[in-house]
Amino acid sequence: MEILRIQGGQRLEGKVQVSGSKNAALPQFAAALLSGEETILENVPDLSDVRFMGEILSHLGTDIERLGQNTWKIHPANIHPDAPYELVRKMRASICLLGPLVARLKRAKIPMPGGCVIGHRPIDLHLRALNEMGANVSLNQGVVEVDGSSMKPATIFIGGRHGSTVTGTANAIMASVLTHGTTVLDGAACEPEILDLCTMLEKMGAKISGAGSHLLKIEGVEKLQGCTHRVIPDRIEAATYIMAGAITRGKVCVQGIRPNHLGAFAKVMKESGIQLQEIGADTIEVKTDPSGLKPFEVITLPYPGFPTDLQAQACALACTIPGLSILTERVYASRFMHIPELLRMGAEVSLEGANAIVRGGKTLNGAPVMASDLRASAALILAGLVAEGETWVHRIYHLDRGYELLDKKLRNLGAKIERLPESALPPAFRSPVD
Ligand code: EPZ
Repeated sequence: MEILRIQGGQRLEGKVQVSGSKNAALPQFAAALLSGEETILENVPDLSDVRFMGEILSHLGTDIERLGQNTWKIHPANIHPDAPYELVRKMRASICLLGPLVARLKRAKIPMPGGCVIGHRPIDLHLRALNEMGANVSLNQGVVEVDGSSMKPATIFIGGRHGSTVTGTANAIMASVLTHGTTVLDGAACEPEILDLCTMLEKMGAKISGAGSHLLKIEGVEKLQGCTHRVIPDRIEAATYIMAGAITRGKVCVQGIRPNHLGAFAKVMKESGIQLQEIGADTIEVKTDPSGLKPFEVITLPYPGFPTDLQAQACALACTIPGLSILTERVYASRFMHIPELLRMGAEVSLEGANAIVRGGKTLNGAPVMASDLRASAALILAGLVAEGETWVHRIYHLDRGYELLDKKLRNLGAKIERLPESALPPAFRSPVD
């Protein structure tokens, strides 16, 4: 296992290039299964989750090849519908295989995805949508089995009590593109990753109207072709680097992004006094006047609201801004695993239900901390960048699931951050408090 050692106190300066979006690429790997022809995906981030998805597709019979660090060739000429438990249980996004397998093979067998530390992650909306399309859905010994032989078009409200579902929407779209007739999805997720999926599917010959809105109409077609598609930039990674620049009061240019994907996040940053200057079509420069920062309030919501995937990182940023900031988590009730670790660094955060109340401005102190999930890991690294002394981040495999070369990219911005073997830990830190 590896750890990250961070020496706090460096102002970040310079340029950082954002990678392709994990949450766009994963459903798009699944979407490639909708055609027996070859698909090329470009700008795919080099992440363990992506490699997992590649292994699953290979297990399903796909001829899959990595043509370069960020380019994959996927040729699903002869596939079967049986996803491997060992791989699927490790990655929730594998649930996105349901829709394409049911559409192409009229059958799918997917083990129920594992839970994760950010909270309960049901798939009832995914299964209800398939059911309403006439598929026969059953759960046998933890495996979801779907018979799609009698699927028909339907008008479905796909939202749930927490609002829209991103991968649930992806599954319903992919299940309907080969179903003759018009399927209507109301209450659909409109995250940029869903719009990008629709863009890819339209390149394959799918007929989708309303892409990017909450109301989608899909006209089923006979067959889809392969395509070449370039994955959109990762808006969560981009915002993480913007907050890295802000938390260190540095001056960072985040390049290769879609500024219009930053929605409510950019608004909150500006209200807090963090200056975001758009430079050209794909770059944002972040500058911070230390005297002008104000605490902020955030409520996480489906897009275009403030992304839940940025809540932990914003919590770390709030710890460095004098005053009371309030971060309310409306998507995943228990997505606060970063808070006990921030407290170990001297942060003052109290949890009142779904609200994290941050009394910011106290100096953070370096400490051994434990990553618990992808975005909590990023939050601890942001805190380590400004903490006094050394911060040691354990279990950074969480980080490698969703951030390509994060420590290298931060080093290039001037951060003192190193990836070391666990044996490099000082003896006192070898058995962190569980
Ligand atoms: C996607 O997960 C992202 N993952 C998540 O990013 C992200 O946090 C989430 O959307 C919300 O934006 C990928 O795209 C691979 P949801 P997803 O279905 O689709 C409830 C990261 O860090 N719900 O939109 O699984 C659910 O419990 C990851 O990159 C149901 O009740 O999330 C949650 O409260 C973490 N029933 C809310 O809806 C369902 O059937 C939103 O979940 C499905 C979801």
